[in-house]
Amino acid sequence: MNKIRAAITGVGGYVPDYILTNKELETMVDTNDEWITSRTGIKERRILKGEGLGTSYMGIKAAQELIAKTKIDPKEIDLVICATITPDMPFPATANLIATEIGAVNAFSYDLGAACSGFLFGLATGVNFIQAGTYKKVIVIGGDKMSSIINYKDRTTCIIFGDGAGAVLLEPTTEDVGVMDSILRSDGAGVNYLNMQAGGSRIPASHESVDANLHYVFQEGSTVYKFAVTNMAEVSAQIMERNNLTGADIAWLAPHQANKRIIDATAGRMGISDDKVMMNIEKYGNTTAGTLPLLLWDYEKKLKKGDNIIFAAFGGGFTWGAIWVKWAYNS
Ligand code: UT7
Repeated sequence: MNKIRAAITGVGGYVPDYILTNKELETMVDTNDEWITSRTGIKERRILKGEGLGTSYMGIKAAQELIAKTKIDPKEIDLVICATITPDMPFPATANLIATEIGAVNAFSYDLGAACSGFLFGLATGVNFIQAGTYKKVIVIGGDKMSSIINYKDRTTCIIFGDGAGAVLLEPTTEDVGVMDSILRSDGAGVNYLNMQAGGSRIPASHESVDANLHYVFQEGSTVYKFAVTNMAEVSAQIMERNNLTGADIAWLAPHQANKRIIDATAGRMGISDDKVMMNIEKYGNTTAGTLPLLLWDYEKKLKKGDNIIFAAFGGGFTWGAIWVKWAYNS
């Protein structure tokens, strides 16, 4: 009997309408379009406006589009995983809110937090439920409303992040396609360089924590950059080597969209030319757990059955990893 693999059989996505351009940021902090573009590759990002709208709003939209495209009955969905670091509330899980709203009444659902690697970790988790034969339809969502935890007076972070969410459907297959291999890593020593200190159990919300700006993302950019370049390239090369893949075998690199220079370094290390690198950082910025499914959303029509895709990410924690997928369908 052929091995059961988990294949991505559909993609949905959502980005908010409001576009925050580099020009507008110039009016908010001491920065300029030239600096942002040359240091990061970002031109604009989307911001979710509207009272009371959280990450679930975007996850619901992405999942609803996925359901409409794949024509599945929401009652057949077994599991909904939402990777996010900006849940609507500490509890209940944002995935619970999404599952109920999309009519996944027979599913169980939970959130998973691995920052910018969240979608990779969520995908690997969903894959195991399918490969074990436990479930037949798993939705993995990656999304973040980063604007809810960004200080728009801090030029070192506010230029980078944006809001958005994407969703994929995982189903079993016995064909030689689907998620083939994954390498996932984490190191809590990264806490000092990329974090949001308050709002958890260590520093609950107080007037003091708000006044000290502890409910915003803190990033020591240049340190994170060095770790990101090294680890994202290393893990991507490692997954290729252990599967005897060369740059010529890879149809696409789908890298986390944090900084174009990190992406270029990873592609260079893997021997992959620019035309094979999925990129949408210029229009969405860094949407944290949203970047990888949003890449699939933007590039879906270009993907062909059998295409080898390497997903790679690095982010807060630190967390990082790479996943090799053989694309399962033609659009
Ligand atoms: O997705 C999660 C993982 N995160 C990442 O992968 C992000 C990794 N880090 C980065 O992408 C980069 O470090 C940044 C884009 C955040 C910053 O770029 P950089 O080339 O590392 O700049 P830097 O932090 O070393 O700062 C260089 C200079 C500094 O000025 P001085 O001290 O040299 O006078 C900063 O104050 O640029 C200054 N600067 C800015 N100037 C204009 C910092 N932010 C800005 C800004 N506009 N927005």
